[in-house]
Parts: sequence; structure tokens; C-alpha cells
Amino acid sequence: MTSTGPAAPVTTPGVLVSFEGGDGAGKSTQSRLLGAWVEGLGREVVLTREPGGTALGQVLRDAVLHGDHVDARTEALLYAADRAHHVASLVRPALDRGAVVITDRYLDSSVAYQGSGRDLGADEVEQLSVWATRGLMPVLTVLLDLDPVLGRSRLTGDPDRLERAGDDFHRRTRQAFLDRAAADPGRWLVLDATAPVEEIAAATRARLAPLLGLTA
Ligand code: TYD
Repeated sequence: MTSTGPAAPVTTPGVLVSFEGGDGAGKSTQSRLLGAWVEGLGREVVLTREPGGTALGQVLRDAVLHGDHVDARTEALLYAADRAHHVASLVRPALDRGAVVITDRYLDSSVAYQGSGRDLGADEVEQLSVWATRGLMPVLTVLLDLDPVLGRSRLTGDPDRLERAGDDFHRRTRQAFLDRAAADPGRWLVLDATAPVEEIAAATRARLAPLLGLTA
């Protein structure tokens, strides 16, 4: 039996980068721009997202965002299940091939939204995801920081269950991201999401370059 022990940090030839932040902060735009740049360097790029980066994940995404009422612990477990499957079936194999995997949201979203937003406790929610992913952490996490009121005004379409959670919830979530970033500056890059798109992209590239072995 090798799968029941405590999660050990995992190292792979690939590079995992995550984008985090509130809704409407521009994460998917920045993921695409960064992916195009990395591809231009001749590296394999896998662009993905949570929740919903896999076929099973799409089902879980639908259940958690568009289903009836889901209680907070069930919500945390659904995101963790999505993440476990995402990592096992898509992210880890890509990293093992040496790809650069760019994910629109990862574990820190659970810590911020379920741990702080839903008040389940950051440490417990983090441990759940560490277990689910066997300790796989990004080498770089870019936080696109945005006032949630501004973020909401940038959204189009009907709000999902999380987007309807209220201003206090989203304020707690934003603060949780900022606190996590401040506690681990080696992994995080915090950028003002209201800055011009190209400025944010350039700052992200500059931070990732040495992690890809490029010199300035
Ligand atoms: P996202 O795909 O970023 O939203 P959209 O495509 O609608 O812009 O994320 C969906 C929602 O799920 C978002 O409000 C944040 C929330 N979320 C959590 O609460 N916990 C998590 O672990 C993740 C990954 C997302």
C-alpha cells in the first residue's frame, strides 16, 4: 500500500502556475496570455481551470455552482473532489511530461472561499486539499486583487451560487487571499487587477521567467 500515508511534497519536471482572485478579476484572460507566451518559448502548455477542468469536474462544477442549496461542508468536499480528480487525471500527468500547467484557480480558492468565506477554517480546508492533491502546490500563484464590488460589476450573465454569496463573504475571501499571499511571498505575486491587461501580463512573465530557467 502506498496511497494511505500522509501527503508528501511532490516534485515534477513540469511547472504548475495558478491564477487566483475574485470573480471578474481577469484570471482567464491572463492565463491565456501567459500560456501563449510560454508556448512561444517552445514548451508544452496546458491551460486548465477549477472547478471543471475534466469531464467529471464539469459535472461537479454544475452541481456546486448551479444546483440547489449545498451546505458549506458539502461544498468544500465537492471542490476538493474536483481538485483530486483534476490533479490525478490531468495536472500530474502533464507535469510528469514536463509541461507548464496554468490553472485558473487551485487550492487557494478553497482556502479563501470555503475556509474564510464560509468560515470552515483555513487550516482544515487546506489540509483537505493537500490530502486530495497529495501535496501538489504551484511554484507560482498570481493573485489578481480586486475590490469585489468592482469585480461584480465586470461580470456578465446570471450570477452563480458563489457569486450570489454577498458582499461580506466576498470581502472575507479577498482578505484571505491577501493574507495568504503576504504569508508566503516566495510563491505569490500580488497584482492590482485594475492595471492595464498588458502590464499585468508583463509582470507575470517577469516573475515566471526565472522559474522556467530563463535569465533576465
Ligand atoms: P470560476 O470558474 O472562476 O468562475 P466563473 O467561470 O464563473 O468566472 O469559479 C467558480 C466559482 O467557484 C467562483 O465563484 C469561486 C468558486 N470556487 C470556490 O468557492 N472554491 C474553490 O475551491 C474553487 C476552485 C472555486
